Order: sequence, then C-alpha cells, then structure tokens
Amino acid sequence: MTRPVLRQAEPVRCSRILAIAGERGDQVVTNDDVAGPIDSSDAWIRQRTGIVTRRRAAADVDVLDLAEAAARKAMAAAGLDGPDLDAVVLSTITYFHQTPSAAAVLAERLGATPAAAYDVSAACAGYAYGIGQADALVRSGAARHVLVIGAEKLSDFIDPTDRSISFLLGDGAGAAIVGPSDTPGIGPTVWGSDGSKAQAIRQTHPWSALQEDADAGWPTLRQDGQTVFKWASFQMAPVAAEAMERAGVRAEDIQVFVPHQANMRIIDQMVKQLGLPGSVVVARDIAETGNTSAASIPLATERLLAEGAASSGDLALQIGFGAGLVYAAQVVVLP
Ligand SMILES: CC(C)(COP(=O)(O)OP(=O)(O)OC[C@H]1O[C@@H](n2cnc3c(N)ncnc32)[C@H](O)[C@@H]1OP(=O)(O)O)[C@@H](O)C(=O)NCCC(=O)NCCS
Repeated sequence: MTRPVLRQAEPVRCSRILAIAGERGDQVVTNDDVAGPIDSSDAWIRQRTGIVTRRRAAADVDVLDLAEAAARKAMAAAGLDGPDLDAVVLSTITYFHQTPSAAAVLAERLGATPAAAYDVSAACAGYAYGIGQADALVRSGAARHVLVIGAEKLSDFIDPTDRSISFLLGDGAGAAIVGPSDTPGIGPTVWGSDGSKAQAIRQTHPWSALQEDADAGWPTLRQDGQTVFKWASFQMAPVAAEAMERAGVRAEDIQVFVPHQANMRIIDQMVKQLGLPGSVVVARDIAETGNTSAASIPLATERLLAEGAASSGDLALQIGFGAGLVYAAQVVVLP
C-alpha cells in the first residue's frame, strides 16, 4: 500500500503590517495624582522615568473593551471586516479569566468567526511576540490576515502604596493587522526568555493564596527596579542590534525606533548603545501614556504616524521586553 504524500499549506513569500491603531484609557492621571501614597513627587517621577501623565481607563471599561476599540480602528484602516480575519492573537496579562481566552471572546465581538484565536502571555514583549507569530502564520500559509493586539488594563493590578512599579503603569490597547505582501515588511524576529529572573517583575502572590487565606487580597504587581533597569538598558540593545543585522539593515537605514515604553532613561540608554543617528525618530509616548505593557509599542507607533513624525514605508526597529523575563525585536515597514 502506498501512503499518500501530505499536502501542506501553500506558503506566501512576504508579509507586512497593513494597519496599526490604538485606544488609550480616557482618564489623564498626573504624577501629583499618584505621588501622595508613595511619598514621591512630580519632579522625582519626571526625572527618574520621564513620565508626566499616564492614561487610565474608567472603572466600567475593561481590557476587552480597550482591545475591541483598537481592533475596530485597525480593521477599518485596513479595510477588513471580521470574516476577513483568519487569526486573532491577543497579548495581555490583565484579563480576569484563565479560560476561555480573551482572544476568542474578542473574535466573537468583532464578528471574526471562525478565526483561530488565542492569548499570548509575554507581558511587555507581547506585541513583538505577536508580530513575530503573525509574520510566521502568514508566510507559512496558515492564515492570510492576522489581527495582533496588545491590551492591558494595568490599573486593575496596581497597589497605590507600591513604590516599585504601580506609578509607572497605564491602560490601553494597540492593534495591528498583518497580511501578505509582495515585498518583505517584517524582518526576522529575535526573541527569547530568561526565567532565572522570573522574580524581577512579578505578581505579589498567586491566586491560589486566596484559597488558603481569604484575606490575602487581590494580587498586584511588583518589580526590582534596578535589576530590570540594568537588564533592559544593557542587555536589550544587543537584541535590537541583532534584529537589524538579521534584517540586513544598519542603524543609518532606520527611520524610527520604537522601544517598549518602560522608562525614558532606558530609552535614552538604548539609543546611545545602538548608535542610532540623530535623524532617527525615537518614540517617547511614555511621557503622556505611561507604561502600558503589551500595548506600548503599537500605541507609540500609532502616535508617531498620527502626528506625522513617522510615515508609511519608514523602517522601524521595535523591541519589547518585560516580565518573564522575555523579549522580542524586529525591523518592520510601517503601514
Ligand atoms: C522604578 C525606578 C523608577 C526606580 O528608580 P531608581 O533610580 O532605580 O530608584 P532606586 O530604587 O535606586 O532608589 C533611589 C532613591 O529613590 C527612592 N525611591 C524609590 N522609588 C521611589 C518612588 N517611586 N518615588 C520617590 N522616591 C523613590 C529610594 O528610596 C531611594 O532613596 P535614597 O537614595 O534616599 O535611598 C527604576 O528602577 C526603573 O524605572 N526601573 C525599570 C523599571 C521598568 O522599566 N519597568 C518596567 C519593565 S517592563
């Protein structure tokens, strides 16, 4: 008996980002609003982080609402309807359900059925992880149009008295649509993890602690600021440099740099270490939006495009890094 030779999905040569859009929490929270309980000040927060305000969502808006708003704008910009989407990849660490996934619920809301849908847990690297996966899905022929979303309502996981991370955090969602292209629009993804530093950014306690002690309280986020600062400032620039090398471009070829919006001093340090020329437009959305984790790269990109600081066709180097620790970088052509 001869065994049949399997047919495989028809690969596509290239992929690109067709549209990027975002949705920020509609409340502007100043440094003075958060400084009191942590004995800090507007001047200290500006000087150490570059944050002037952060955007947070109202109590009746949840992470799926933010994701849906960003997704609808991206779909409109790409001229696609729900049924045109083959996969929905949603990165979040702030969805309240372990199962079903936020992506499946979102796909239903968008009329994107029966698209494949799954969540990614890669914290602040989640969007860059998603773009890497979407690129692979499209080029392998597994999906034609992939909706990639980073969405966080981090204000649900902050402790106003915590000095380590809570004052940095904001709420928002950024969405991109990846589809087939005649020319390369997404360079190779350089990604990885270092679980030996799993405690550097963490949840105070697991949900199971509530089973043992009902007074354990709602878990919130904490970080070892200096560990994260040093890791991000000095170990992430080589990852971004490798993404450029693997894409076959030099620092002089890049028009835009969109690092995860964690801290303005980390951004400045990375620009210096990468030797990016002064002509490169550097995303600094953190000043007004704060750190929105998985949403920060698409939100910062969307702002540069909307304000005319970046243009369609520009080469952008993007890098996400955060809890895990995890990271991912790639060079993309802006939509
Ligand atoms: C959190 C962060 C802003 C703290 O800044 P830092 O310069 O490292 O602060 P340090 O912990 O060294 O503390 C320095 C001083 O500031 C004080 N301090 C710490 N946090 C403070 C706060 N929120 N407000 C006011 N003062 C603070 C400390 O008590 C210390 O005071 P001392 O010198 O009198 O002892 C910084 O470490 C950081 O941004 N790290 C990276 C965070 C990040 O990007 N996280 C997201 C990852 S995806």
